[in-house]
Amino acid sequence: MHIAVVGLSHRTAPVEIREKLSIPEQTIESSLKTLKEKEQILEVSILSTCNRLEIYTLIRDPQLGITAISDYLSQYSGLPKEDLSPHLFDFYHEEAIAHLMRVAGGLDSLVLGEGQILAQVKKMVRLGQEHHSMGPILNRLLTQAVSTGKRVRSETNLGTGAVSISSAAVELAQLKVGQSRGEDQLVSLEAEDIAVVGAGRMSRLLLQHLQAKGCSQLMLLNRTTQRAKDLSTGFPELSVDCRSLEDLNHCLSSCSLVFTSTAAEKPIIDACLLNQLKRESVLRLIDIGVPRNISSDVQEVEGVEAHDVDDLEEVVSRNQEARQQMALEAENLLKDETRLFLEWWDSLEAVPTINKLRAALESIRKEELQKALSRMGSDFSARERKVVEALSKGIVNKILHTPVTQLRSPQARTERQQSLKAVEALFSLDDSQPNAK
Ligand SMILES: NC(=O)c1ccc[n+]([C@@H]2O[C@H](COP(=O)([O-])OP(=O)(O)OC[C@H]3O[C@@H](n4cnc5c(N)ncnc54)[C@H](OP(=O)(O)O)[C@@H]3O)[C@@H](O)[C@H]2O)c1
Repeated sequence: MHIAVVGLSHRTAPVEIREKLSIPEQTIESSLKTLKEKEQILEVSILSTCNRLEIYTLIRDPQLGITAISDYLSQYSGLPKEDLSPHLFDFYHEEAIAHLMRVAGGLDSLVLGEGQILAQVKKMVRLGQEHHSMGPILNRLLTQAVSTGKRVRSETNLGTGAVSISSAAVELAQLKVGQSRGEDQLVSLEAEDIAVVGAGRMSRLLLQHLQAKGCSQLMLLNRTTQRAKDLSTGFPELSVDCRSLEDLNHCLSSCSLVFTSTAAEKPIIDACLLNQLKRESVLRLIDIGVPRNISSDVQEVEGVEAHDVDDLEEVVSRNQEARQQMALEAENLLKDETRLFLEWWDSLEAVPTINKLRAALESIRKEELQKALSRMGSDFSARERKVVEALSKGIVNKILHTPVTQLRSPQARTERQQSLKAVEALFSLDDSQPNAK
């Protein structure tokens, strides 16, 4: 059995590839089912976020298992294998475990240390458990990854500062507005007519950061107007004009800066729509949706400046240095967590021998107890029988405690294998022996 991860991320694939491999929550169940039915796959779970799609799995054979998953990804995305393969990565065993710990800690994120990824790893665990696609190995690994993510945030400085894709989007807007004025720095957004399209988690963060950067009023559009209204109540100091998506044309005609963050699976803004507008000033569009909410053809529309999630790299790299330093603090903690998991994984090697040893001693205990009780005949009351039975169990458990602990304790692989062999030989635990169960 091998632990592996196959996937792609903002490091290996541009948004136009990533959006083809975004698996929404409502289709995760069928994807897990299809993967679990593959002969090579024993356990599986899916992490799908705007910047990554990763399949964590326990497979029988590394090569065949990875191929089965790559085939599935090609089929799901509709991309031929030769087009998809250059964007896929795969890691086995220790590298796969270390990668997961980095992801959960936010060290592999576009915005180093961002908090949303931990919630997404938790969601992967919940979905894997709900749909019964995980077994004991992935359950242990993924729940440990969640606690690692929590440790990174509580024990290092990487969790400080409310960084997210949304905060980077607001910074990108500040930078672009600044550059349009000939200043290569982040400027206040006070003078902009701003709109946010979408009223989910990312939009909430957009509102928070916009308010912090000098915005005092904005238009908030959502498919469901009531959700926009509910969101706006959390920002009493912002003047929010809540509207339905039907007012999108009005929004694009009257605003200078529009952020889009909806979970729509197809673009909601394209060149055709923008060409109908009569605008005299520049319209800046910043899209953090994956799949993208804004079609790439808007680049051809005069007076429109559009950015997607990959363009956030420009602002992220500007302030990454300080966060890189903080990330170093987290590295040791991640190594520690990887080592702990590997120790647990190695200790599993002892389980079959321990089970055989327990079964052999239990069989002796039962046999001897039976002999003793039949010798005592009816002289023994039910209560006395129970006491003797408990005594026999207690003795066996005490005898087993030290060897079992030692066999499972962290140690070099060869050392454990020698001990296991010795125990099997001393207690005749070979499967062919009569007292091996
Ligand atoms: N969560 C993250 O960490 C993260 C990070 C970066 C980027 N993103 C991307 O940002 C987008 C929003 O994510 P989120 O976490 O904020 O989602 P969310 O909390 O689930 O909110 C989804 C929003 O999208 C709207 N929506 C869904 N389907 C739509 C459709 N067909 N047409 C128009 N609007 C639709 C919803 O409107 P209703 O209220 O009417 O349902 C809601 O406003 C996604 O594309 C996601 O990939 C997310």
